[in-house]
Amino acid sequence: MTEFLLKTDIQEIAAALGDKASAFAGKTIMLTGGRGFLGRYFTEVFAHLNATVLDEPCKLVVLDNLITAGEAGATVGQIENVTFIKHDVIQPLDWPRDKNDKIDFIIHAAGIASPFYYRKYPLETLDVAIIGTKNMLALAQKNQARFTFFSSSEIYGDPDAKHVPTPESYRGNVAAQGPRACYDESKRVGETLCYIFHENHGLATNTIRPFNVFGPGMQETDYRVMPNFANRIKGGRPLNVYGSGGQTRTFCYITDAINGFLRVIATGVPGEAYNIGNPKPEISMVELVQSMETATGGKLNYNIIEYPDSYPADEPLRRCPDITKARHQIGFQPTVKLDDGIKRFLDWTDKTYTGDA
Ligand SMILES: NC(=O)c1ccc[n+]([C@@H]2O[C@H](COP(=O)([O-])OP(=O)(O)OC[C@H]3O[C@@H](n4cnc5c(N)ncnc54)[C@H](O)[C@@H]3O)[C@@H](O)[C@H]2O)c1
Repeated sequence: MTEFLLKTDIQEIAAALGDKASAFAGKTIMLTGGRGFLGRYFTEVFAHLNATVLDEPCKLVVLDNLITAGEAGATVGQIENVTFIKHDVIQPLDWPRDKNDKIDFIIHAAGIASPFYYRKYPLETLDVAIIGTKNMLALAQKNQARFTFFSSSEIYGDPDAKHVPTPESYRGNVAAQGPRACYDESKRVGETLCYIFHENHGLATNTIRPFNVFGPGMQETDYRVMPNFANRIKGGRPLNVYGSGGQTRTFCYITDAINGFLRVIATGVPGEAYNIGNPKPEISMVELVQSMETATGGKLNYNIIEYPDSYPADEPLRRCPDITKARHQIGFQPTVKLDDGIKRFLDWTDKTYTGDA
């Protein structure tokens, strides 16, 4: 177990998965973006399932081009039954290499997920979600593997208040031009590619739309709001709230999220998209500061500032998932309360962050 994740969280995910884990026994799983935040959890959870409950171990092939991955997870290839290949998914990959290599599942989690990085790498953001997804779908077709695409809640854009909480059927209110378009629009095309491979080629595809997942393991240099605030708390600096501070989000603790993702991967209805997140509470960024004050037990200073150049403005005003579909079809039910999740996260960042990112 790496020191970058909490062992108790990995155990909690495996326990919540229960008998659904058996879907992975003896299977080969290809995971793209496997050195990222979510990818490192998948790797540790599969390693834990191999060691504890699976009759026959699953094999994991992890791909990542390391564009935003840090040092965390550098030893992933040393874990039993895990192979790491440095590979950019916008290049085609020839697989299987022999008949023992056939892939059963592809989890396509490669992406440029943090607004800070998709501001910095707009074309790479576009390419990984479009060309990368098309390449991985072609590979799934060749291997007759189940395919899961990590899309985003950002495909809904800036929903009208009457569509919040937002169900999967909402079509979105998205700008084709603007600082966020490279992420939102390319994830939408990625979903269209999944739809075509399912409808026209009979491939078992699923799309996951995560809503702000957070937890131990997020890099200090990730710059999404949770690690950003945690870094400044550790450094004893005031928190910077961008824009008006009134924009809302919901936050899903990592153990609930990975449990939901694995349920989709193992048992999602082919062709379907699923919101995975925690609908309660929907809070503003100023309220998030207050929740962090509760968790740390002290007063936190904060400033409300203009969006810096390094961060894409044009943020959606509200973001909150309707998870009825995931609850009914795959039995997904988040259980970790926001305050508890923040406490677990800040306890971990206090031990691992430097405070000067
Ligand atoms: N974590 C969330 O809250 C969240 C929310 C919405 C969507 N998502 C999506 O889920 C996926 C995983 O998110 P995450 O939080 O782990 O992100 P992350 O940034 O921590 O990890 C993504 C990984 O993909 C790799 N990558 C990027 N481009 C690549 C390429 N061309 N080839 C190979 N590897 C490449 C990066 O190096 C990185 O290690 C992403 O696609 C993201 O857009 C995540």
